Amino acid sequence: MGSMVTIDVKAGAAAKQRDDAVVLPLLEGRKFTPAGDKLAGQEETRATLRAWLRRFDHLGKFGDIGTLYDVPGMFAPRLVVVGAGEERKLSLNGLRRLAAKTAHELDKRGARDVAVYLADLNVRGASVADKVRAVAEGVWLGLYRFDKYRTKKEENRRPLRRVTVMVPSRRDLDAAEAAVERARAVCAGVMFARDLGNEPGNVCTPEHLGEQALALKHPKLKVTVMDKKAIEKAGFTALLAVNQGSAREPRFIVLEYAGGAKKDAPVALVGKGLTFDSGGISIKPAAQMDEMKFDMCGAAAVLGVFRAATELNLPVNLLGVIASTENMSGAAAYKPGDVVTSYKGLTIEVQNTDAEGRLILADALAYAAERKPAEIIDFATLTGACVIALGSQASGLMGTSSRLKKALARAGEDSGDRVWELPMYEEYQEQIKSKIADIRNIGGREAGTITAACFLSRFVDDVPWAHLDIAGTAWNMKGSEISAPGATGAGVRVVMDYLASRSS
Ligand code: BES
Ligand code: MN
Ligand code: ZN
Repeated sequence: MGSMVTIDVKAGAAAKQRDDAVVLPLLEGRKFTPAGDKLAGQEETRATLRAWLRRFDHLGKFGDIGTLYDVPGMFAPRLVVVGAGEERKLSLNGLRRLAAKTAHELDKRGARDVAVYLADLNVRGASVADKVRAVAEGVWLGLYRFDKYRTKKEENRRPLRRVTVMVPSRRDLDAAEAAVERARAVCAGVMFARDLGNEPGNVCTPEHLGEQALALKHPKLKVTVMDKKAIEKAGFTALLAVNQGSAREPRFIVLEYAGGAKKDAPVALVGKGLTFDSGGISIKPAAQMDEMKFDMCGAAAVLGVFRAATELNLPVNLLGVIASTENMSGAAAYKPGDVVTSYKGLTIEVQNTDAEGRLILADALAYAAERKPAEIIDFATLTGACVIALGSQASGLMGTSSRLKKALARAGEDSGDRVWELPMYEEYQEQIKSKIADIRNIGGREAGTITAACFLSRFVDDVPWAHLDIAGTAWNMKGSEISAPGATGAGVRVVMDYLASRSS
């Protein structure tokens, strides 16, 4: 993560801004916006803008960008008109993407200081602060790059350094500033998760994840990292079984953040930290196996939330639990047919060593449940089936608590870090019955995402629980407006939104 662009807010006329560029969003089908009128100030400016916009009638199409130079009456040398699409279709998510795309474009063209005129760009149900937050998140997340391993950095002599978001009135300033502060912390958490995910598997090992957790500093945060010996002593036997085939030691990481009242039980956040998943003896095909370095993105999401929550001094108690290992096929590797006794005591027949995530989560969830948290949310790149079901637009949501699932679904829509529920009918539990142990670690071809969740459900006791399968969302090799190719930081924004709504 490079240094973050400065974002601030201001009330006043954009025409008076002495920036390199003023950005004006333009809705489709409107020759001229009232915002444009306000911006222009002088009749001379208005006339120029009107004439210009008439000639470019395609403008306004979502994402289209055009530049007008030396507009009379405007101090900034460039006016950048950005198409915002149809007004009725504009959402906060769209605004976030638009801001990301524009920031990227301006950065590429060498603008250093820009003012964004939000004015009366209406987004249904959104306050000025909501819009400012979406813009700030879009700018920061859109500019993120992971280039630490390139010895020749991308050519950019004058990168974007400051974005000033212009709000309609002085009365909006306090809320807008708070929104930027929130966005700053959340984006720092997302980018931390992206950095961890993008690190190659020879660097981001279980030991490295432990070090990164220990590097998080806050007076109310305590981090404990267990090495292999401590893990053996504690009895995280399912984690140890998966670790058997690897030359690297596993780690079990516990984070405790006491931001809330002493009497309040914490929210537990549990993450799958598979730093490389070869499949083990049930080895994966070679194609795209390199992407299995991202199999620790659940752990990265947990660390990202801790980073953001501590930075915001969020008034909640959090318990973080991360199980981390590689899944390899060394001589001592666990094998199909093995029976493993988990930390909780339930016995598991291993029918496929590639269904390893649920094994290490079994121990992490059982440990979390034992600590009697108010609720548990886990993050895991758990099943290829989830990529097929939901693609990269939403994480799979399952669990035992309707209240928690509803709140997460809502937070997913608000934050743009979407989640979509899959059912967990009792009948699915049939599929993970074993002939020789309490359960088996695969449930057949049908409903693979759900049967994986059914497996996890056996380890959470009666603690209200939600499971996020981020297999399709945690990384994206094509990239999107708000996420460069690689890890996305999925899970951080939705849970940060949920935690904020919970403590308000
Ligand atoms: N880490 C994978 C899931 C995965 C696959 C995530 C592809 C993202 C993209 C997980 O450990 C796994 O291998 N799951 C198996 C389970 C199966 C053997 C029951 C899968 O989904 O194929
Ligand atoms: Mn696997
Ligand atoms: Zn895996």
